[in-house]
Amino acid sequence: MTVEARQAVYGAIYPSLRDRVVLVTGGGSGIGEEIVRHFVEQGSRVAFIDNAEVPTRSFLEQLAAEGHRPHWEDADLTDVAAVRAAIGRIRAAFGPIEILVNNAANDQRVKVEDVTSEYWDDRIAVNLKHQFFCAQAVLDDMIKAGGGSIVNIGSFAYDAGFSDVVPYLCAKSGVVGLTRGLAFDYGKHNIRVNCVMPGWIMTKRALENWVGEEGRAEQDRRQCLKRPLQPFEVAKVVLFYASDESSACTRQSYLVDGGWV
Ligand SMILES: NC(=O)c1ccc[n+]([C@@H]2O[C@H](COP(=O)([O-])OP(=O)(O)OC[C@H]3O[C@@H](n4cnc5c(N)ncnc54)[C@H](O)[C@@H]3O)[C@@H](O)[C@H]2O)c1
Repeated sequence: MTVEARQAVYGAIYPSLRDRVVLVTGGGSGIGEEIVRHFVEQGSRVAFIDNAEVPTRSFLEQLAAEGHRPHWEDADLTDVAAVRAAIGRIRAAFGPIEILVNNAANDQRVKVEDVTSEYWDDRIAVNLKHQFFCAQAVLDDMIKAGGGSIVNIGSFAYDAGFSDVVPYLCAKSGVVGLTRGLAFDYGKHNIRVNCVMPGWIMTKRALENWVGEEGRAEQDRRQCLKRPLQPFEVAKVVLFYASDESSACTRQSYLVDGGWV
């Protein structure tokens, strides 16, 4: 990548992110991959958790070719004990965690009539529960550090109207409640908690599964901005909420959706 192209992609530099210890969940592909890239470019010390081995290894190879070596933990985020152990190893490697980006999720489609009790629990586990337990696992680090920033990734979808994702939408509504509850309880420790809600973002998974001609037409109809939105555009907003530049912002949810109506 040329210097000009790099600046166009990475944009602002936040001095407060240099050397900060950052944990990103679901950082092996999609929006999470872009979030990891952006923190690495800021000079942060970055760790991520992801259980998809193939895309993660290829991502790590690309980063290594650029001289970056973030710490990867291969763990299933729906397994709370495994998550706690992974976070313990990250802390041992890097020290206390100061920034957490709760990004991982899975928006698998399902008809309401096909949802079983087990499937419901599984959807809440993959889309909401780990956000709570990852936060719980790092709060003490942040308290001891005198503060921290948690960015929970929600979704425009819970408010926008989409079919066949009811359990996912319930979980994503919960992310807003989680954000507000943690912000209220931990503001006294200078821990800020915000939610970034992406719109329809052109990840590999979205492009392969859902964005066809019809999808593009819907984008043109419903987005104020008449163009596809890219993962890096979410990552840039996450950096702002993670950095000290947003020092008075907490308990907020910010849409990055191109103005979806
Ligand atoms: N792409 C969009 O259009 C869009 C829209 C709104 C919100 N979002 C939100 O943005 C975030 C990222 O979405 P994305 O589109 O990049 O998703 P993605 O499916 O492309 O990537 C998710 C990553 O999380 C990892 N992951 C999922 N379950 C895991 C588990 N149990 N254990 C460990 N890792 C796990 C996956 O392996 C993958 O690398 C999610 O919170 C999603 O809800 C995305």
